Amino acid sequence: MERLEIEGGYPLQGEVPISGAKNAVLKLMAASLLAENECIIRNVPLIKDVLTMIEVLRSLGAEVSWADHAVLRIVPKKDLGYSAPDELVREMRASVQVMGPLLSRMRKVKLFQPGGCVIGQRPIDLHLKGFQSLGAKVVEEHGYIYVQADKLRGADIHLDFPSVGATENIMAAAILAEGVTVIRNAAKEPEIIEEQNFYNRLGAHIRGAGTDMIRIEGVKALRSIPIDYTVIPDRIEAGTFMLATAISKGEIRLKEIIPEHLESLTAKLKEAGVEVEVKEESIRVKAGKRLRAVDVTVLPYPGFPTDLQPQMTATLALAEGTSLLTENVFSGRFRYVDELVRMGANIRVEGRSAVVKGVPCFTGASVVAPDLRAAAAMVLAGLAAKGKTTVEGVDLLDRGYEKFEEKLASLGARIKRLVTDEE
Ligand code: UD1
Repeated sequence: MERLEIEGGYPLQGEVPISGAKNAVLKLMAASLLAENECIIRNVPLIKDVLTMIEVLRSLGAEVSWADHAVLRIVPKKDLGYSAPDELVREMRASVQVMGPLLSRMRKVKLFQPGGCVIGQRPIDLHLKGFQSLGAKVVEEHGYIYVQADKLRGADIHLDFPSVGATENIMAAAILAEGVTVIRNAAKEPEIIEEQNFYNRLGAHIRGAGTDMIRIEGVKALRSIPIDYTVIPDRIEAGTFMLATAISKGEIRLKEIIPEHLESLTAKLKEAGVEVEVKEESIRVKAGKRLRAVDVTVLPYPGFPTDLQPQMTATLALAEGTSLLTENVFSGRFRYVDELVRMGANIRVEGRSAVVKGVPCFTGASVVAPDLRAAAAMVLAGLAAKGKTTVEGVDLLDRGYEKFEEKLASLGARIKRLVTDEE
């Protein structure tokens, strides 16, 4: 078993580089299944989800190798499989993002039903409805989803909710369809723009990503040229380090980032009394005195990101006054709150909201993380706590953060990984 041990009370100081965006790179890897030639993807973080996606792609018949540090080379075979192994789909929900590219290329997909998730219900009904609108037949039986289409035809699709995954899968499925597809109420996340750019480099005709209306003009075939693409920096990793600085009352500079992607967090941190200086490709964060309480409403981009909600809650749990955090993206994303309460936080969850009454300090405790971002929140709480905190669930952190504890240690945190044999 692996756990992290943190000795609190050391403010973060220094500079930290930010890795490539997990939620972009996983989709670009899936997107490369549509390529007719070699795809080079740069700035790929070495995290467990990337390793799982490599296995998914290989299981489908793509050639995947590390060409260099942080550089992946992917060459899909002409004739790919159409079904990823169940255990990989179980391991990583993002495996569902191969559905759109496979439907486009192979005209059929079979996938294990991904099911629920610890952060709340995560159905894929919007993905499937989108495929149906494009003319595909969807059958769900014996725990599997079968999607098949002799022909895909462009359609006008309105999403009930701006789902990131549904927008991405429908966009991929429409690339080789006959005619024009319009996705309305589309997700506007920066990762969607990345995919549009990537697909267009492959020869697709997509525009509008980053707005709530995306237009895909179907093409007969993609170009057979190699492409070389560099992934954007991870805004969630960057945001986690900004909050780690705020909670530990430190001062750091984040390098190699796109500050615009962090505007909702920057605004909230400033409101809470943190000094944030934004430059073209870097942000400096400085926190000295106790933060002020602020209310936060989690919404799809450009709203406050759900993937920073647990880290923000932990930070506000030490602020002066009462903050109200409302989660509008994932229903079950407050499961970690009980663990923070064990460290001395005063938080009450009421439906989709958490009422956070700031306390002056946390005390170190042994806590268990239920999911990836909650694990990060617990580490942040440990940075600010009196004494030692141990966080179980380190494998979750490894799914999404590259060298998390090494980066924190380089900023002065007292953090180490403990490996024991016990179950
Ligand atoms: C992606 C991100 C995840 C982030 C989330 C929201 C990846 C690998 N994951 O997840 O880190 O937290 O966006 O920014 O990129 N929904 C439906 N039906 C559907 C699809 C979604 O009801 O068919 C609901 C979900 O239950 C959830 C909400 O829509 O409540 C948002 O989900 P979605 O935007 O699809 O998130 P993911 O793409 O799964």
